[in-house]
Amino acid sequence: MYTPDVSQPTVSLTPEQVAFYHENGYLSIPNIMPLDEVAWMRDVYDRLFAEQAGRAVGDQFDLAGTDEEGQAAVLPQILGPAKYAPELRDSKLWVNAAHIVHQLLGQDALFGDGHMIFKPARTGAETPWHQDEAYWDPTLDYTSLSVWVPLQEATVENGCMWFVPGSHHLEVLPHQSIGGDVRIHALEVLGADIGSAVACPLPAGGATFHGSRTLHATGPNRSDVPRRAYILSGGLPAVPRPDDRRFQWNEAKQTAREARAKASRGSSD
Ligand code: NI
Repeated sequence: MYTPDVSQPTVSLTPEQVAFYHENGYLSIPNIMPLDEVAWMRDVYDRLFAEQAGRAVGDQFDLAGTDEEGQAAVLPQILGPAKYAPELRDSKLWVNAAHIVHQLLGQDALFGDGHMIFKPARTGAETPWHQDEAYWDPTLDYTSLSVWVPLQEATVENGCMWFVPGSHHLEVLPHQSIGGDVRIHALEVLGADIGSAVACPLPAGGATFHGSRTLHATGPNRSDVPRRAYILSGGLPAVPRPDDRRFQWNEAKQTAREARAKASRGSSD
């Protein structure tokens, strides 16, 4: 039984770290949660994937493959894992991450659950270069970030995060489903300059933060250990855009995940 003291945060950014985030669009810190919590959360994480939590309603699926039944996933993902394991909220990670989100985006920022991306040992696929906002509703404007938390050491070999410094100032660039295959949920950016990319290896218990337009990627898992990442989200309420921006790459998608989600809602739209 793991029962952390969640009454107050135990980690704060320095003014220099806050400035670094706003200048570069990302930040890396070595400690956001204690190691006994990492071990506890890893067990919760493994249980959710083993149980295929959320698969029937489209919340668990293969991010980088075609996601057919009975086929081994190359990059399994769970959306909204705290729906399936509410105990995730009672953690130092949530307390500290919420505090840091407020430091980076202000006290009006909301903080909450996100998703889990699992890279199996040896077979886990890369997550290609992309901007998170490319997945979202194109009619809204966002001031938001993601908190990326590995539940073991994250290395270049097992699939740590990479960022392009300063890319958060870009507009959303053109994307497509990986390889142009509309059955695949994951997007890849087209024509981005990633020449200045930096790798952000982390110890267990560390975290990175990145903005919704920051170009980022993770490599394949070439190691003998699974790479588990839990990604939390923070942001100000999104506001309607004055233009009619469209993301054709999302309109084109025909994924098995969306078919399951529609079936579970009982709709045929
Ligand atoms: Ni992303």
